[in-house]
Amino acid sequence: MARLPILRYPDPRLHTVARPVATVDERVRRLVDDMLETMYTADGVGLAATQVDVHERVIVMDTSEQHDQPLVLINPEIVKRSDERAVNEEGCLSVPLIYDRVERPARVTVRALGRDGQSFELDAEGLTAVCVQHEMDHLLGKVFVEYLSPLKRDRIRTKMLKKTRDELRGK
Ligand code: NI
Repeated sequence: MARLPILRYPDPRLHTVARPVATVDERVRRLVDDMLETMYTADGVGLAATQVDVHERVIVMDTSEQHDQPLVLINPEIVKRSDERAVNEEGCLSVPLIYDRVERPARVTVRALGRDGQSFELDAEGLTAVCVQHEMDHLLGKVFVEYLSPLKRDRIRTKMLKKTRDELRGK
């Protein structure tokens, strides 16, 4: 397995729309394994392929307390959304150290292929529902800060650009 570099907002590549995976083969399983390693190393609960500059519909997640229940969603589709909505604080490995509140459907049912290529359905609520919707947004080229006000988004953009500049200078 290998750790992959994570794109940072406002990198324009984060706005790429991912294409479906044609076949869950060895190449895709390697991508999944690399994404899991990248996510766990970065202490994240979810990662979309978009964030590692691979524009295919692949998501990895682990919202368990012990970080020992990896979940792989290939070609995920939401088949049901609750009318009830919930507001939760979200963060993103592509927008480090920024957290803000986003409102979304409280529960969703997702259909996807697993790492074995088999189709399954997941009824998600709580953090898992938040995470799956957040990651599926990435596959459509959408970052969670786009739910915030333009003013907040501009501030975050400036902060991220400065952070990246400082890191390049070795600060
Ligand atoms: Ni994210």
